Amino acid sequence: MFKSTLLLALATAVTARKCQNLNIPISISATNTAFNLPPPATDIDVANLLINFAEDSTNFFKSILVGPKNVSGHYSIGATYCQPDHGPGKALQILTHGAGFDRSYWDLSFNSHNYSYVARAVDEQGYSTFSWDRLGISASSKGDAVNEIQQPLEGAALEKLSMLLRDGSIRGISAKFDKFIHVGHSFGSALTYNFIHANPDFSDAAILTGFSQVGNFVTSFLLGGNYGAVKDNAVLAAKYPRGYIAPKNPTGVQIDFFAPGDFDPKMLANAFAIGQPSAIGEFLTIGSNDANDFKGHLYIVTGDRDLPFCGGSCYDTTAIQGAFPDLLAASKPNFPSAASFNTTIVPGGGHGLNMGYSHKDTYDSMFNFLSSY
Ligand SMILES: *[C@@H]1O[C@H](CO)[C@@H](O)[C@H](O)[C@H]1NC(C)=O
Ligand SMILES: *[C@@H]1O[C@H](CO)[C@@H](O)[C@H](O)[C@H]1NC(C)=O
Ligand SMILES: *[C@@H]1O[C@H](CO)[C@@H](O)[C@H](O)[C@H]1NC(C)=O
Repeated sequence: MFKSTLLLALATAVTARKCQNLNIPISISATNTAFNLPPPATDIDVANLLINFAEDSTNFFKSILVGPKNVSGHYSIGATYCQPDHGPGKALQILTHGAGFDRSYWDLSFNSHNYSYVARAVDEQGYSTFSWDRLGISASSKGDAVNEIQQPLEGAALEKLSMLLRDGSIRGISAKFDKFIHVGHSFGSALTYNFIHANPDFSDAAILTGFSQVGNFVTSFLLGGNYGAVKDNAVLAAKYPRGYIAPKNPTGVQIDFFAPGDFDPKMLANAFAIGQPSAIGEFLTIGSNDANDFKGHLYIVTGDRDLPFCGGSCYDTTAIQGAFPDLLAASKPNFPSAASFNTTIVPGGGHGLNMGYSHKDTYDSMFNFLSSY
């Protein structure tokens, strides 16, 4: 049941990191939301569903809502642990990817790992990293795409993995840490947001990337992504059950994740090639509590031209009636207990921050933040 492979990853001129792929068994439970919705099986079903959702999300939601439902299960989680070649890093960063990708988002091999966040975090900054495929995605167990693979159960997986890491009880990771930093992207930031609320003392710091709490722009993302049914997708159909959806071509990925002028066309092709689908249950349950009890240092980093979370400009405050100088700052009142709160809007950056030319600015700002407290 348990497999691990030791692999020596990328050797740079001066340092090498040691990375290990893991399959981690977990037992979890959560209160999901039950929906009366057949999993969309065809491209036409998917488009119908997204149109219904986009046109009137409140009534659509009401029409399919059944109510809260407790779910539990035994699952296997695909993950990668990395540390500097000389030993465990100064803290463990727990990296949670967003919709559309898997844990490789944090360690992109494109252009000789030039875009890799893990390469910088481990080789240059001396951290250990733990990246995981969210429950339901890629090397992790799949499940019912409507009523099982949802935010609450995925959040329970993040919580369980964090506890196992703190206890030093994951087979294959001998290092034990007492200092943690939770980092998310997009849907992974929403999971991270809820984790640090429920566990306010766990992490010294948290970084929410590709994120805001202004929900006005989700429909652009849903309609812009050119989503189709995974069962109509030659590559993904073998790996995922009915009810998962994915962009049908690179244009959908471009619209949802890339800002004009901020990307190498070869990176867009790569992003499409490594892309993973989303369970429809994830889109139906995404959300982050308004008030957050987190006590550590909190940082939000989002591209100025992020489509789903800023509508293409984080400085356009129309959606919040100008109540804050920008859309990221609007989260500040939600962190009354945080040791510090700061934000960075990456100039020219899109939603898929790690994939843009601007990734260097993104990472610089994250490491500046981490060295500032
Ligand atoms: C779910 O489980 C919790 C705790 O065991 C319980 O309090 C709650 O009533 C259950 N909810 C449902 C919908 O069954
Ligand atoms: C990536 O490549 C760019 C341009 O060639 C270079 O300026 C940058 O330092 C490289 N970054 C890394 C982390 O290797
Ligand atoms: C917030 O981050 C910016 C960089 O985006 C930095 O210039 C500034 O000093 C930080 N503010 C605080 C209070 O740490």
